[in-house]
Amino acid sequence: MSDVSSHDLIIFGAGLAGLRAAIEASRQSRGGLDIAVITKNQMMRAHSVAAEGGTAAVMRPDDGDSLELHAWDTVKGSDFLADQDVVDLFVRTMPGEILQLEHWGIPWTRREDGRIAQRPFGGHSYPRAVLASDKTGFFELQTLYDTLLKYNTVHHYNEHFVTSILIDQGAFAGLTVIDMTTGRFKFIRGKALLIASGGAGTLFGFTTYSQTVTGDGLALAYRAGIPLEDMEFLQFHPTGLVPSGILITEACRGEGGFLLNSRGERFMEKYAPQKMELAPRDLISRSEMIEIEQGRGCQGPNGLDYVYLDLTHLGADRINERLPLIREVCMEFNDLEPITDPIPIRPVAHYSMGGVETDINGATAVKGIWAAGEAACVSLHGANRLGSNSTGECLVWGKIAGAEAARYCQSVDALPAVPERLVEQEYNKVFGELLDRKGSENLYDIRRDLRSTMDQYVGVFRTGAGLEKALAAIRGLKQRYAHITIADKSHAYNTNLIHALEVANLLDLAEVMISGALARCESRGGHARRDYPQRDDENWHKHTLAWHTDQGPRLDYKPVTLTTWKPEERKY
Ligand code: FUM
Repeated sequence: MSDVSSHDLIIFGAGLAGLRAAIEASRQSRGGLDIAVITKNQMMRAHSVAAEGGTAAVMRPDDGDSLELHAWDTVKGSDFLADQDVVDLFVRTMPGEILQLEHWGIPWTRREDGRIAQRPFGGHSYPRAVLASDKTGFFELQTLYDTLLKYNTVHHYNEHFVTSILIDQGAFAGLTVIDMTTGRFKFIRGKALLIASGGAGTLFGFTTYSQTVTGDGLALAYRAGIPLEDMEFLQFHPTGLVPSGILITEACRGEGGFLLNSRGERFMEKYAPQKMELAPRDLISRSEMIEIEQGRGCQGPNGLDYVYLDLTHLGADRINERLPLIREVCMEFNDLEPITDPIPIRPVAHYSMGGVETDINGATAVKGIWAAGEAACVSLHGANRLGSNSTGECLVWGKIAGAEAARYCQSVDALPAVPERLVEQEYNKVFGELLDRKGSENLYDIRRDLRSTMDQYVGVFRTGAGLEKALAAIRGLKQRYAHITIADKSHAYNTNLIHALEVANLLDLAEVMISGALARCESRGGHARRDYPQRDDENWHKHTLAWHTDQGPRLDYKPVTLTTWKPEERKY
């Protein structure tokens, strides 16, 4: 039997949602719960640190903003697929979270008069993105981490890779993990689990995500029998730096930056005459691709043709004060000075609107399991997320789900029994079957082919024929995966083995995403079908659920919760 350790609450993921949940569970129980936070990275290396531009909240109800307006912007931005009760809870909770972070010490950027500054973001009718320069995610995560250090009942598992979520007798039992530093296989037992391990964007080659974001929590939940919701909706951010894909924050446009085609035209005039560069992301990404396809882009390396983001009219002072990270990134990675030269950009895979299906409080279909943040689909973003609503989602549902999971732990007396047979099976699967596999296929070729398939067929624009090809290709890659060799046979720090586990997760998620996209014969938000260019509310105003079966995903649907607004045409 492997090592067994026990905690009350296990939090899988150490980004904004995970740390916010750990704090709330600690507060709620007054430090009475034993909490584990597990990450395959190190604390403070979660991808949340890469969030740049801001966090949306209504802070000026005295100056024209309102909760109703924030809710309306979010619902319209979602192409009417967001659950409106969820949106309402979100906008009501957000202002308190901004003040809470302030009390915990975050250095929010201030206005001249000392009040918290806010900047415009796409699809919002009011400049409501609260910011900490252009490093908002970094400062938010640092503030949560510092706050969490107050609690000595929180155990940090750095560099622990989760291989499975075990469910016994219909309820959460624990996680199997590899301690990457030693290679030891462990069982971490808990009364409750909160999945907060982020999205699935490294399914694509051109992406803003860190290479560590491989959708592990989503894939493991799916295999454990929890459905994934709305996975076909993947957000392409309009401004990925060419050729690296590094995020060039939407705040550049919030600060007044222009999008230009190769003729120097502000092309958004044609596509969103009112909002221009501050239209929602789905619309801008499609507009950029049309410009490029119609020959008004510039030729980039490896097919990464691009248009420009121009900040040169903003002036050095504004760029240095409000966008210092962006300037540094352009200089470091492209040898380009954005004060004097436009930045080459194109749409880039950025965010999973879908995720583990939860209710409004983050509870999943399985007793004892919650999910929050990008890993979850609480249905806040529907078919298209507005920029600056994601860090907020992590805070709000980190708090709500953390509190709910803590209450559950307090109400349950005993820890679950160790399901020894299941643990042993998982050990044999990883260290027996997978590590010993001796085939002729190269894991890294499979990972590269997976990403190029997704880039080619599951991008900003999709077609049924392309999605069919993609699905066949992914199924072919799954067959090849069965014949990989893991060259490194050691246990300690075996990154080869970890990559193999990650690729298995990505392959399952690709299959789910493509299946959902193929079935959804309409265009809505981030899912644009050239063969079905219209939104079809009669047949498709519903959420997709994907259930795991040995033959691939089984799709099912559930209704969208409408409380206030009926779907209408989106105009910007
Ligand atoms: O553009 C950005 O700064 C990204 C923000 C977001 O995805 O919410």
